[in-house]
Amino acid sequence: MTKFIDQISAELKKAFQSLNYNPDLGRATISNRPDLCEFQCNGAMAGAKEYRKAPLVIANEVAEKLENNKVFAKVEVAPPGFLNLKVSPAFVRDYLIAMAKEAKFGLELPQNPLKYVVDYGGPNVAKPLHIGHLRSAIIGESIKRIIRFAGHTAIGDIHLGDWGLQMGLIIVELNERKPGLPYFDHEYHGAYPQEAPFTIAELEEIYPEASAKSKTDALYREKALKATYDLQKGLLGYRAIWQHIMRLSKDDLRKNYDDLNVEFDLWKGESDVQDLIPGMIAEFKEGGFTRLSEGALVIDVKEETDKKEMPPCLILKSDGASLYITTDLATILERVNEIAPDAMIYMTDKRQSMHFEQLFRSARKTGLVSSEMDLRFLGFGTMNGSDGKPFKTRDGGVMRLEQLVADINDEMYRKIAANRTVSEEEARETARIVGLAALKYGDLSNQAAKDYIFDIDRFTSFEGDTGPYILYTIVRIKSILKKYTDGGGIIKKDALHEADSDEEKALMLVVSGFNSMIEEAYQEIAPHRIAAYIYDLANALNTFYHHTKILTESVNEKQEAYIALLNLTKEILETLIDLLGFSAPERM
Ligand code: ARG
Repeated sequence: MTKFIDQISAELKKAFQSLNYNPDLGRATISNRPDLCEFQCNGAMAGAKEYRKAPLVIANEVAEKLENNKVFAKVEVAPPGFLNLKVSPAFVRDYLIAMAKEAKFGLELPQNPLKYVVDYGGPNVAKPLHIGHLRSAIIGESIKRIIRFAGHTAIGDIHLGDWGLQMGLIIVELNERKPGLPYFDHEYHGAYPQEAPFTIAELEEIYPEASAKSKTDALYREKALKATYDLQKGLLGYRAIWQHIMRLSKDDLRKNYDDLNVEFDLWKGESDVQDLIPGMIAEFKEGGFTRLSEGALVIDVKEETDKKEMPPCLILKSDGASLYITTDLATILERVNEIAPDAMIYMTDKRQSMHFEQLFRSARKTGLVSSEMDLRFLGFGTMNGSDGKPFKTRDGGVMRLEQLVADINDEMYRKIAANRTVSEEEARETARIVGLAALKYGDLSNQAAKDYIFDIDRFTSFEGDTGPYILYTIVRIKSILKKYTDGGGIIKKDALHEADSDEEKALMLVVSGFNSMIEEAYQEIAPHRIAAYIYDLANALNTFYHHTKILTESVNEKQEAYIALLNLTKEILETLIDLLGFSAPERM
């Protein structure tokens, strides 16, 4: 379905053209003076020079042409040559009826859908999942869903950090605690136990202790580096421990991500591409893309136009060890071979922007990807506490994700239980659903690249630009619709009518902008666009609701039309919160 604003522009274009002006001048935009009009066109001003006419003259000609045009209820000319437009209620009604009938509310789907890999989450196995990974999961999940809704394919890859020093640290610490285990007996040739020699709780405690020791004890650190090296070289006992760590951690991660309504298609990690590295490096060398620098292998990625420092990209250390970026290069190679995507999008803290700049440049320079490949890094800002500093626990430690979610849910529960009489169980369940909305909306309503303040009190409020306010609006609509159907009413989805109040028309106009908004959110890869629209829509709905008697309306057609509008609004809101990765409860 052609976008609403494009249909308006089409009428303007026709008018300009029939007056022998360039049709491109007839472009409508949403009015920046909503007190005067709904849409505007500035084409008369733009064309004045070319046609050597006063803009006012051109505008008047166009306005005259548009008289009696079915799309417009009012066309006004304002100096120096603005065309101020109001669309006709019938035109809006017809557009919404079509939206209500079509799949995805009439969103235009791409002729050539693209295939995206969305690399997000990025937790490090065996290290606790903390706030640093929360934003990546929340934003990435939303981006994946937006891309899919826009009609493309998106494959989400968690890209685990599963090959690093943390593994060596855990092995060494485990060795100190339980030296008798067969994994450490290099003479042992039997099968290793199926059961891990630790629980997930122990594992979570082993890592921080080992990490702390390695910071003060140089010998311990040496041992951990050696163990990491041996693991990577394939020492069987260490590989077996690694398998245990992986299995336990993945189960635990899955549980955490389930709670966040985050789901990955691929559970790949750094370890998966280790076998690709030697061949890849050999090709880099053969292609003449590398050089030795103090024993290490580097790729130069500096370009003449660079204004900032662009150090060479280090891909092998002098001891032959590969690095984070080496693995990322091999992962690109694997994705190109196995998935053949058109684009790869990476989501991490923006402090990794240099890493990704170097990565992308190396991938292009070495021909790992073609010049058409869309490689994008979406660096997000830091989540800060109310003191403006990176969010910490009350005792100053790094906040764990589970704790944060629990805190939000508790606060949500408190608010819900204080306001309503529901069973403890229902209140807890509702708090969980609304809490997730509070958390995700609080994050996604900000532009991802910006830092934001994590404010539990504000995020969990039922008023203002918050998740709970949005859910409350949806629940309100559901409850009206339920009363209506309980009373014998039947929802007729396309019973919309010509708006009979400003409030109703305003709501209908916001609804009509759905398709344009989705297109922008997709093109800019910007969940905050969706959040902003949701907020506008919820506000327009509530204004309409407060102004209009719906359930007591006695004229049948009117009531059916109101109900159809509520229903359409509800369906859109539910679709959109799903794109942000949360859902609404039945009541709250
Ligand atoms: N594990 C990394 C971290 O915690 C994030 C991984 C992001 N993805 C990637 N392909 N580099 O910082």
